Amino acid sequence: MSDGSEVKQAPDHAAEIQRECAAGPPGRLVRVLLIEDNSDDADYFFKALLRGTDPCEIERVETLAAAFERLGRGGIDVAVLDLSLPDSSGVETLARIHAQFPWTPVVVLTGRADESMGIQAVKEGAQDYLVKGQVDTRLLVRSIRYAIERSRLDRQRGDFVHVLTHEIRNPLTVVRGSLETLADSDPGTWTAAQKGNIDRALRNAGLLSKIIDTMLEISRLESGNALIQFGRVRAAGVIRPMLQDFEAEARKRKIRLEEEIQEDLPDICANEDLVLQVLMNLVQNALRFASSTVLVRAAANGAGAQISVIDDGEGIPDHQIGLVFNRFVQLKRRSRGGFYKGTGLGLALCKQIVELHHGKIWVESEEGAGAAFHVVFPYA
Ligand SMILES: Nc1ncnc2c1ncn2[C@@H]1O[C@H](COP(=O)(O)OP(=O)(O)O)[C@@H](O)[C@H]1O
Ligand SMILES: [Mg+2]
Repeated sequence: MSDGSEVKQAPDHAAEIQRECAAGPPGRLVRVLLIEDNSDDADYFFKALLRGTDPCEIERVETLAAAFERLGRGGIDVAVLDLSLPDSSGVETLARIHAQFPWTPVVVLTGRADESMGIQAVKEGAQDYLVKGQVDTRLLVRSIRYAIERSRLDRQRGDFVHVLTHEIRNPLTVVRGSLETLADSDPGTWTAAQKGNIDRALRNAGLLSKIIDTMLEISRLESGNALIQFGRVRAAGVIRPMLQDFEAEARKRKIRLEEEIQEDLPDICANEDLVLQVLMNLVQNALRFASSTVLVRAAANGAGAQISVIDDGEGIPDHQIGLVFNRFVQLKRRSRGGFYKGTGLGLALCKQIVELHHGKIWVESEEGAGAAFHVVFPYA
């Protein structure tokens, strides 16, 4: 079929099976999108699904592009995804669906030889994985039920965090306002301890605001409801003014800020404000840890532009390197030149933003030898 999409008629014996299903335990109709280019495999899954006790409606598409189109029209409860399609392969396929349709539960299909890819996919947000050739009806139905249920709970939790952070924001604004008024009204007779208490309260209320704002931003991006405009963005146009803004802080910390931007680097497809947000977070971290220099480098890397923020600070120990993109993770609270109270959310937000752009983010570091954070944004 030319657009790679078809609404498959059930096989001949299916009507009978479906009648049996209807007589089985009462269940809501489950709408399944099977994203699978191999016809034999697809037939196998059709039959296995229709043999199950849950009434279901199955549609099949053969390409990722057709899957995007179908998911975009809504009404799909769960996607069953073959990880190697004509227009996308590997865990990348899942990541692309997940970025666009974060609330569609996905069960991944892998071949026997690449089961590790299935595990990787679950780490990246798939609800489950199944190995082709080792799937029977019971397993498939259980996996689909489980995927739908787990995704519903994830979503409820996401909504809860969103509402909660919203509700905390207003009273917190009042608390901060009152504390600021109090601090400004110093009658000159306060003791050092009293002043210290007010300062501490203000600082911590400020930190709480920062946490709330970042959590709201993460949940906004995660919800898939955020209206984000993507356009052509010139990396140099984001990096240069940003570095100028950091100049004063760098001087104060006695850190040299350097840039190295490839001259003919093509534009990226991105939202400029969000790219700036990512880079600011990385540079802010780097400035905190660097001993003498922070370098921002932009250069071509395959299908995108790679922007790296490299510092010569203490680096990140090997066993902790996998943690830094998780929420609320702060490995070191001390920074050069004082105690730092961050939120531990900066890198989690960066990851969320980069994934929305179908990009990549990772870190290379050796303890004592600095850290290099890399992001790749696809070309426009
Ligand atoms: N350039 C860096 N060098 C060493 N450690 C870093 C660097 N950037 C981030 N980290 C570590 O990762 C943690 C998480 O960073 P982030 O999410 O930005 O939170 P925050 O900056 O609020 O602490 C930091 O607390 C720090 O321990
Ligand atoms: Mg940070």
